[in-house]
Amino acid sequence: MTAAPAPRRADELLRAAMGHLQLAGVQDPRVDAELLLAHVLGVPRGRAQALALMGSALPAPVAQRYRDLVLRRGAREPLQHLTGTAGFRRIELLVGPGVFVPRPETEVLVEHALLGLPQGGSAVDLGTGSGAIALSIAHERPDARVLAVERSPEAFAWAERNREHVGAANARIVQGDLADAVGEEDGPFDVVVSNPPYVPDGMVPRDPEVQRFDPPAALYGGPDGLDPMRAVVAVALRVLRPGGLLAVEHGELQGAEVRGLLGPEWRDAATHPDLTGRDRVTTARLG
Ligand SMILES: C[S@@+](CC[C@H](N)C(=O)[O-])C[C@H]1O[C@@H](n2cnc3c(N)ncnc32)[C@H](O)[C@@H]1O
Repeated sequence: MTAAPAPRRADELLRAAMGHLQLAGVQDPRVDAELLLAHVLGVPRGRAQALALMGSALPAPVAQRYRDLVLRRGAREPLQHLTGTAGFRRIELLVGPGVFVPRPETEVLVEHALLGLPQGGSAVDLGTGSGAIALSIAHERPDARVLAVERSPEAFAWAERNREHVGAANARIVQGDLADAVGEEDGPFDVVVSNPPYVPDGMVPRDPEVQRFDPPAALYGGPDGLDPMRAVVAVALRVLRPGGLLAVEHGELQGAEVRGLLGPEWRDAATHPDLTGRDRVTTARLG
């Protein structure tokens, strides 16, 4: 007896994928199954949904590639590592092993940073990772000058790749420690923005995608998680112009602690919710 051929119809593949991803504990099985289908077909998600509705058959190698990717997603590899890209605000970023996958909540941080950026102004992004924050600002504000700093060689390479991918001629990325890579001669800046590591060293992130695939250097920030944040505040004091804006992302329970790091040089310190209502961004003005 010969084995039944593996299904090749888009609707059957999709149904099997959703079932597998649900059992594996993936948060949005339908979304991920459809996005992976769209990825292997090289079409937008809506087109993949339409092909499934019509019961279209996939070529055998494409169906096999889809099944392989679904298995990897079920093993909790981040969706963005499998597709190689992450959408962030109005840009697409190339991502993969060695770089932090940009998150939707960070889009709100960028919104705050943009509010503090005058026409022809300047911003510096400390710990840029893929370049998500810096390159979004540069893309949305071609009049602005943007500097970004990243210490990890792997992440720095991704950020440089993304600078070319996005075509942000007004952004410059330097490799170095955020504590000392920006000199007074680079500024003064209108905005200092950062999404630094802020997980306390002893904590284990809940999601396997984060635990196993985000670089530890992007997550952990010392005993209370706030060592990189202290460095960010110190740099901001040094390179912001008077009245300039500091905008930082942090854990949802760290707002008060972060405001507590801001001495008498700061005014208008405030913590803001993200799109899900969690306190994730703190802003303050210098002087
Ligand atoms: C949470 S990730 C954020 C990445 C990106 N800004 C984003 O929002 O998607 C923090 C980033 O800071 C970098 N980083 C950590 N410590 C650093 C340091 N001392 N100097 C420069 N970069 C640092 C990490 O390598 C990582 O890329």
